[in-house]
Amino acid sequence: MNILLKTLCGFAYVTMAVSVPGKAQAEPQASHVEACMPCHGEDGIAPASDVPNLAGQNERYLFNQMMAFKSGKRPHKEMRYMARYLSKSDIEALAAYYAALPPR
Ligand code: HEC
Repeated sequence: MNILLKTLCGFAYVTMAVSVPGKAQAEPQASHVEACMPCHGEDGIAPASDVPNLAGQNERYLFNQMMAFKSGKRPHKEMRYMARYLSKSDIEALAAYYAALPPR
């Protein structure tokens, strides 16, 4: 991805994060959120009916599911692949991020 696009995405992400009020939380890396977007949607609402929405889901639940994908306890080809490269703190930040988005 070129630098301009990356900067723009980073900027959009930062403005989004700033507009979400509430508790202080670890922010996920923009590149991680970008990697989820094609399947889970820009705002955590999945465009496809066979992909779950993440927006507004329980933070602990999201965390547990991603850890389960990472370990293989919850089998799923794509999510296993996605979670494999995320650290525990990446996963915590992603869970907090998606839990804070408004559900549909
Ligand atoms: C290639 C498409 C794809 C990508 C990219 C993807 N996901 Fe998923 N994700 C899925 C599908 C499909 C499921 C449903 C799995 C199932 O049926 O068990 C899922 C399930 C999940 C779940 C469990 C939701 C629930 O309600 O149980 C979480 C959490 C999740 N994804 C987070 C993420 C995060 C965070 C990212 C980015 C790092 C990501 N996903 C990237 C396709 C994707």
